[in-house]
Amino acid sequence: MTEPVAAVEIEGVTKRFDDVVAVDNVDLAIDDGEFFALLGPSGCGKTTTLRMIAGLDLPTQGSLRIFGEEVGMAPPDRRPVNTVFQAYALFPHMTVRQNIEFGLRMRRVKDPELSQRVAEAIGMVRLAGMEERRPDQLSGGQQQRVALARALVNQPKVLLLDEPLGALDLKLRQEMQQELKALQREVGITFVFVTHDQEEALAMSERIGVMSEGRLLQVGSPREIYERPSSRFVADFIGRTNLIEATVESSGTVRLANGVVIEAETSAPAGSDVAVSLRPERIRVQSRGAGVSAGASLDGEVGDVTYLGHAVVYAVTAGPTLVEVRNEGEVGEPFAVGDEVTVSWDHGAAAVIAE
Ligand SMILES: Nc1ncnc2c1ncn2[C@@H]1O[C@H](COP(=O)(O)OP(=O)(O)O)[C@@H](O)[C@H]1O
Ligand SMILES: [Mg+2]
Repeated sequence: MTEPVAAVEIEGVTKRFDDVVAVDNVDLAIDDGEFFALLGPSGCGKTTTLRMIAGLDLPTQGSLRIFGEEVGMAPPDRRPVNTVFQAYALFPHMTVRQNIEFGLRMRRVKDPELSQRVAEAIGMVRLAGMEERRPDQLSGGQQQRVALARALVNQPKVLLLDEPLGALDLKLRQEMQQELKALQREVGITFVFVTHDQEEALAMSERIGVMSEGRLLQVGSPREIYERPSSRFVADFIGRTNLIEATVESSGTVRLANGVVIEAETSAPAGSDVAVSLRPERIRVQSRGAGVSAGASLDGEVGDVTYLGHAVVYAVTAGPTLVEVRNEGEVGEPFAVGDEVTVSWDHGAAAVIAE
């Protein structure tokens, strides 16, 4: 059996701008039809990676294939991709319809194909009835949809989206996230979605690639990235976590910095220095001496209490370790600053990080 060909395949790709290494030896394969997010803090190389896929930047080194065809040095218009940028770059003096059909007119596509493709794109992004408006007569979300339609009308095989929702306020942003996800399922083409917002990446994508300082650190499903981060950077960047320094005792146990030995799976050799990542919502807090039913525990003292409505967050000092505990859906505040407590978790909640 032959492997299905990847929509985008990046192999050993590096991009240098003078002395800045913007993208550092990245290998990545994105599947046909996948919703893939490139996630990382500002300046980590996301846009540069996307621009190399689009042909707007050329790699300094490495190879880049789109559906099996080498395109590393091909100009943008020779690639079956389109890009949607955060600044939608709509033509302000043109109507919605004119904005959307612009690319097709440039390529001399004529009626009836022209009208049919424009009508299809308008239908996809639910802008029917707004064809004659100008961009300044549209909301931010509607402008975003015009930008999407303008890309989709070209029938790309891969759609590249560079922080397309960055300019929208939170509520609209969340609505557009759901819309984009539904749209991607409907059209079935590969989406490569760049964002620095980890919640957005978790909520939208089938797989996420986490970047830092030009390097691709980890690729996996949202669940894998969140529950089994492979590095301290990923553990800390995706959601909140407690990173506790530890040393491996055996393949099933590690010794925390405060001397407590806990169960945790790891393939790192005995004696290696590692970190244990414990998500705050996987930790319980109880009065000292209430009896811990299973798993591992630490005794400590409540140092801070933060009420968030849907959750209460406790900062618990346990020896040299400060543990953040998040109790979701808890009614009231049973613990106060200074209370002596025990924090505990199930063995499976502790993820060992070797780098
Ligand atoms: N045209 C350019 N010239 C020089 N440096 C650049 C250029 N484009 C990007 N960079 C640098 O490359 C790094 C990665 O940038 P970028 O890909 O835009 O990151 P991100 O999109 O993740 O914020 C940054 O250090 C940035 O300053
Ligand atoms: Mg960017």
